[in-house]
Amino acid sequence: MECNKIRIRDFRNIEQAEIEFDSGVNILCGENAQGKTNLLEAIHFTALGKSFRTSHDEEMIRFGAESCEVSMDFTDSVRRQNITVRMMAGKRKHIEQNKVKVGRVSDIVGAFRTVLFCPEHLSLIKEGPGERRNYLDIAISQLYPVYLKSLQKYNQILKQRNQLIRNAEEDRRTFDSTVEFWSRQLAHEAAVIAKYRQRYLKTASVHIEQCFAEMTGEREKPTAVYLGSSKQAPEEYEDVESTEAAYLSLLTSHYDREIGAGSTLWGIHKDDIEIMLNDKPARAFASQGQQRSLALAMKLAEGEVCAAVCGEKPVFLFDDVFSELDSTRRAYLSGKIGERQVIITTCEPSGIAGGKMIKVENGTFK
Ligand SMILES: Nc1ncnc2c1ncn2[C@@H]1O[C@H](COP(=O)(O)OP(=O)(O)OP(=O)(O)O)[C@@H](O)[C@H]1O
Ligand SMILES: [Mg+2]
Repeated sequence: MECNKIRIRDFRNIEQAEIEFDSGVNILCGENAQGKTNLLEAIHFTALGKSFRTSHDEEMIRFGAESCEVSMDFTDSVRRQNITVRMMAGKRKHIEQNKVKVGRVSDIVGAFRTVLFCPEHLSLIKEGPGERRNYLDIAISQLYPVYLKSLQKYNQILKQRNQLIRNAEEDRRTFDSTVEFWSRQLAHEAAVIAKYRQRYLKTASVHIEQCFAEMTGEREKPTAVYLGSSKQAPEEYEDVESTEAAYLSLLTSHYDREIGAGSTLWGIHKDDIEIMLNDKPARAFASQGQQRSLALAMKLAEGEVCAAVCGEKPVFLFDDVFSELDSTRRAYLSGKIGERQVIITTCEPSGIAGGKMIKVENGTFK
């Protein structure tokens, strides 16, 4: 996978730009607040149809402009392609793949596969479960379109069910007559999603273990398993029917608690990844350095799983990560990114070997 060229108009502080990338290492170098992360955000926007910094799309439109546009040429193992996204505040996004309009963002996800790595990811182990679910959702959505479809459906159903719960005290009748219907739908999607997440972690675990061992030389063994709120053993998530039954039983036997809480208390939006080091929860027992190495191993594993499943290496986007790492981890990361395209942002390029240097200044790229 390779990003060849990107054209940008009115995106964040980038008024107009056309940037070509090398197939290996590309270094975006410049002072603070010049537009380095904005460029990575633009690439991410065309790959996944959304930002990694905000859920408010309009924030990406340049101050004072009415719309923005990002158009990316990329090559996969088969052909050269283009994705163009145009956005106007308050309107639906206009998306084209190879000049053909596509109806939904989910139709382009997975066409250009990428792994984003920013300093916040180094806290993946000690952060809350939401960050870890996000890690899974982005990785798996790019590999399996059905996963993203299920996830979108799940979120839609969850919204309806939460609304029903919030209205329950005023309208108990509607609640009683429809809650089971929504619970069944929710449990079904939850089971599908949990199966993909557990499978993904099973494959990723092997790579996490390998990267961690190579990076640290330590003999402690990391594992990552799915921790579903349905409380099943990891391998049980393979059986969608029994997982569905497990989630459904939770969703149909605690209505009063849910009404008290005002939201749905079980389901894949509450699940987590349990990361262990030598069979002990890394969150509680691993040292800070080990936690950072584990997080780095998880991001690298994301690239390895993607390559294994699709037969194609994803493009790595590294936002300011080298400055956050010590020399051992830096050296390891540099060695690991060979033979793939990587786009790195930094204020301080010394210490990053080789590559095409792109100077970033006030939203321009030279
Ligand atoms: N919608 C927008 N319109 C115009 N400018 C914007 C918009 N959103 C953000 N900016 C500007 O973009 C700049 C930040 O760009 P960016 O985050 O890419 O910086 P950076 O080069 O990555 O800096 P650092 O090294 O500090 O991470 C800020 O000056 C901010 O005001
Ligand atoms: Mg930045």
